[in-house]
Amino acid sequence: MCGIIGYIGPREATPLLIEGLRRMEYRGYDSAGVALWDGEAIEVRRAAGKIAKLEAAIAADPVDGMVGIGHTRWATHGAPNERNAHPHLSADGSVAVVHNGIIENASVLRGALQDLGYVFRSDTDTEVIAHLVQELFDGSLEEAVIHALRKIEGTYGIAVISSRDPGKIVAARKGSPLLIGVGNGENFLASDASAILAHTRQVVYLDDGDVAVIERDSYRVIDLNAMPLPRDVDRIDWDLAEIERGGYAHFMLKEIFEQPQSVENTMRGRLMLEDGTAKLGGLNLSHEDLLRIDNIIITACGTSWHSALIGELLIEELARIPVEVEYASEFRYRNPIVTERTLCIVMSQSGETADTLAAMREAKRRGARTLGLVNVVGSTIAREDDGGVYLHAGPEIGVASTKAFTSQVVALALFTLKLARKRDLSVVRGREIAQALHALPAQIQEVLDRAPAVEAIAERFKDATNFLYLGRGFNFPAALEGALKLKEISYIHAEGYPAAEMKHGPIALIDEHMPVVFIAPHDAVFDKIVSNIQEVKARSGTTIVITSRDEPALRGLIDHEIRIPETLDMLMPILASVPLQLLAYYIAVKRGAHVDQPRNLAKSVTVE
Ligand code: G6P
Repeated sequence: MCGIIGYIGPREATPLLIEGLRRMEYRGYDSAGVALWDGEAIEVRRAAGKIAKLEAAIAADPVDGMVGIGHTRWATHGAPNERNAHPHLSADGSVAVVHNGIIENASVLRGALQDLGYVFRSDTDTEVIAHLVQELFDGSLEEAVIHALRKIEGTYGIAVISSRDPGKIVAARKGSPLLIGVGNGENFLASDASAILAHTRQVVYLDDGDVAVIERDSYRVIDLNAMPLPRDVDRIDWDLAEIERGGYAHFMLKEIFEQPQSVENTMRGRLMLEDGTAKLGGLNLSHEDLLRIDNIIITACGTSWHSALIGELLIEELARIPVEVEYASEFRYRNPIVTERTLCIVMSQSGETADTLAAMREAKRRGARTLGLVNVVGSTIAREDDGGVYLHAGPEIGVASTKAFTSQVVALALFTLKLARKRDLSVVRGREIAQALHALPAQIQEVLDRAPAVEAIAERFKDATNFLYLGRGFNFPAALEGALKLKEISYIHAEGYPAAEMKHGPIALIDEHMPVVFIAPHDAVFDKIVSNIQEVKARSGTTIVITSRDEPALRGLIDHEIRIPETLDMLMPILASVPLQLLAYYIAVKRGAHVDQPRNLAKSVTVE
């Protein structure tokens, strides 16, 4: 989703801004722009489309300065064209603004500003901020920004520069992440740490309600009454190499292949093989708290919602606590039953998804304890939850989530193990599960070693127009996730269903043109799924079957086979997801799709 970058210091800002924007490309965007103070005036360059277009615009009409802000925009208000790209200038050109989020009272403010004679040049809600700051300016940029923000309803991460108070960038946050990158004689601003990591590891995460005044040699954080706020400097401990492709054709492929390590990292220091349990330092839940839980709600969006579905099965099976899985966007607007004995687990790779964050706040307001399972360290959900389990999967850049998904399921399994061992689960069973988790990284590697076989299947089906994914039990959520991966990156229509439910509708679609992916390892429901495979074959459907052994019952039913190793039923979706990720990836590549930045999608959806 939209990205913000800012620089103030002794260096030429333009290349630094472009570099920062490039690092945030993975978030998804459809236009980009920069604004610089060139010593005399504020100059803006913008372009629809990719950053290369912006670079071409700058090459045609060069601009530079030592104070600048930049933006990648993911359209919400108004089409993704140059006119609507950020930065937006105020009427007299003295103020430039970039903005992530949505101003809810933009049309009211727009009317009021038009009455004062302001002429709008874009369809965006952001432009009102630029005019408002100009209108309210009285010598100090931060004061004008604060006054403007008091009139604004909605969410924002903003960065503002002005030719009337030029030695600073003023930034503010409410609902959209921002951080200050603290340099030596220079400072940065970004919505995403990856944008500035090449220059500094020292960061100050802004909280909602914070206003930052960033100058070349200093920065201050103040509140909306201009009172100073203490903010700690954090250190980022991951490397730039981790967000570079390292020889892989795409980030998605790299991240798929990183899963033996990312899953290992999720478990590192946490899995207690002897005691058959897990040690989770950030839970903030005492033994008594764990015993007091009456029910669990897991809330999430997208891929994280799929991992939540597996979490539900894990927790109910092992810890015997009722679990409900809720789309965060639905949960926040209904009247859910939450008590002080409810635990709300919040799943989010980015820790910034607007609906998930709002759902967590709503659960908290209703008295639930909240537990965040988050990948991005220092993200808003991670900072606001009552306790948490970091995934430690490392930065995930590909928009389509892969390694974060498998780490989410592993983190859920670790939490379940701990919870269940505090309740009814025996040490013997606990050990069995811990051993199976321990074996996963090597098993994932085995699956990855078979990637060429999956690629061959992809070649055969790259021109399909529809796909069906079917699984039962723990593998039903894996079927949903497999279908989501395919539609996200290859734009082929795909649906996931519980295999037996196929008879109640999707079976009508089956003919010789419909590939059907079955997740059919040797598990408790194997015999049942064999019947479903027969139903498809009887209607001339083509089957791609993920199996775990040479099953006589499957002979004659499989058109294409993908073999995975055996594990406990409950961990099977982790292994089954890997070939499904590969299948989606190879099909998308063969169709010439933009794998890492699929159309219309964003990595982190920070608007409702
Ligand atoms: C976006 C991404 C998905 C992701 C979802 C939830 O839609 O494109 O890949 O699953 O957001 O994101 P989160 O960061 O909360 O897990």
